[in-house]
Amino acid sequence: METGLPQFSPLDRDIRVNVCIVGAGIAGMTCAYLLARTGRSVVVIDDGPIAGGETGRTTAHLTAALDDRYYEIEKLHGKDGARIAAESHSAAIDRVENIASLEEIDCDFERLDGYLFLGGDSKKKALDREHQSTRGAGLDTEMVDKIPGVPFESGPALKFPRQAQFHPLKYLNGLTRAILRDGGKIYCGTHADKIVDGEPAEVTTADGHVITADSIIVATNTPVNDWLIIHNKQAAYRTYVIGCLVPKGSIPRGLYWDTPDPYHYIRLQDAPNAADSEILIVGGEDHKTGQADDSAVRFGRLEEWSRKHFPMIQSVEYRWSGQVMEPVDYMGYIGRNPGTDKHIFVATGDSGNGMTHGTIAGILLTDLVLGLKNPWAALYDPSRVKLGAASDYVKENVNVAKQYKDWLTEGDVTDASQIAPGEGAVMRRGSKKVAVYKDESGTIHERSAVCTHLYCIVDWNSTEKSWDCPCHGSRFDPYGKVINGPAIAPLQPAPSDPRPS
Ligand SMILES: Cc1cc2nc3c(=O)[nH]c(=O)nc-3n(C[C@H](O)[C@H](O)[C@H](O)COP(=O)(O)OP(=O)(O)OC[C@H]3O[C@@H](n4cnc5c(N)ncnc54)[C@H](O)[C@@H]3O)c2cc1C
Ligand code: FES
Repeated sequence: METGLPQFSPLDRDIRVNVCIVGAGIAGMTCAYLLARTGRSVVVIDDGPIAGGETGRTTAHLTAALDDRYYEIEKLHGKDGARIAAESHSAAIDRVENIASLEEIDCDFERLDGYLFLGGDSKKKALDREHQSTRGAGLDTEMVDKIPGVPFESGPALKFPRQAQFHPLKYLNGLTRAILRDGGKIYCGTHADKIVDGEPAEVTTADGHVITADSIIVATNTPVNDWLIIHNKQAAYRTYVIGCLVPKGSIPRGLYWDTPDPYHYIRLQDAPNAADSEILIVGGEDHKTGQADDSAVRFGRLEEWSRKHFPMIQSVEYRWSGQVMEPVDYMGYIGRNPGTDKHIFVATGDSGNGMTHGTIAGILLTDLVLGLKNPWAALYDPSRVKLGAASDYVKENVNVAKQYKDWLTEGDVTDASQIAPGEGAVMRRGSKKVAVYKDESGTIHERSAVCTHLYCIVDWNSTEKSWDCPCHGSRFDPYGKVINGPAIAPLQPAPSDPRPS
């Protein structure tokens, strides 16, 4: 993915540092920035470019309005948990603002009000409950009769004052500059192949170089060092976004979300090279990763919904999708890796709030790495077990178990001639399944269709041109190279064709 940020050469030797951070998205880069400020020697490695993961796909609402609702958080984590959730996400917005100001990062940071409004079958009662719970959690929310100035009948809405938006790539560009100034090192194109705890702990790269460190932070969006514990407690969802051209000033700047599940998330951005226009960014239509490949239908529904609510839309200029990790008990996992690891930390499970969550990870993990106490640590502890979340836990894991049926089904096609150039499909070969990609020139590329995490069968994603695993969200490029964990290894070579040639 092209991010326009400065990129760095791959690591070409063994090194020793205080802290090694795997993943150069908002979580990893915020950790690197804050730790480098304390004088620790810090290295960041990423197997792609900086911000080439979900941070480059975000719609960048900076908000303490959590998409799982405070009344649900309160049920599972108590009033104190809800209060810490509100406090930590609000503090994250402040921290982004402070860092942008301190480091003079011109990242279009803008304070805006956010509005949660009713959609689908939702009833006003849900807004009232959220109003009560958010106030109890310490947020200054207010019920309004309608959202001021929007071109549709919003009905009553819950106002979250002084939320924000920004440009994450410009922000990460500024963090990069500051990390380097403070002595940090960044290596792109450097895949972490193995992450092992110890004194020191070690990351071994795909090129065989070893980084030894007092602490390792795995900020790969979904951890690539853990096989089961965390991945049983969260699920990967794909979400879709369109960017529509609208006349400047025709919609008030703000953050807007509706209440159905999946919900729509909406904001405005200045249009590049068009002073009289803005881009209305609308997202939604989520589904579990690898469990649907109907993006044209989803983009169509998003456009239909957007045009109905914002009739001033002139054209749809952008379409993209990305992945979010949904924890079963609504709170992300930030802290020491579960199990026996002492020096390995993770940040994951950030729902649709990964901008603030990644910033919380920076604040919290800096304290934990330095051995300091942090009042948010228990709420985000990756080892926590919430009995109240048992039904969601079972539901997600039953869903995963069902995906193994794909071992027994027929393939999507029976012959590679049925695949269009630039597309992929899974084919059955005897008892095995093969991921077949036909490139634009018609050349066939085959890999095993078995995900290298826990052996589910991958599915073709025609929007992103990737192989997506329906079990825990691992993704691979058309040639089998891993894009998203938890898989850490590429798709294996395809089983040979048993038919006589
Ligand atoms: C369409 C969309 C809209 C969103 N909108 C919002 C929003 O409005 N507000 C909000 O707060 N959040 C939003 N989110 C969520 C947010 O974007 C993400 O949660 C956040 O960007 C995750 O950041 P991260 O640093 O954890 O992961 P990433 O940005 O994905 O970074 C992880 C990095 O790890 C690297 N990596 C992975 N495996 C390895 C390995 N083995 N070796 C080396 N490197 C590796 C990857 O290359 C990647 O660069 C949205 C997400 C999507 C997809
Ligand atoms: S991501 Fe777990 S089996 Fe594929």
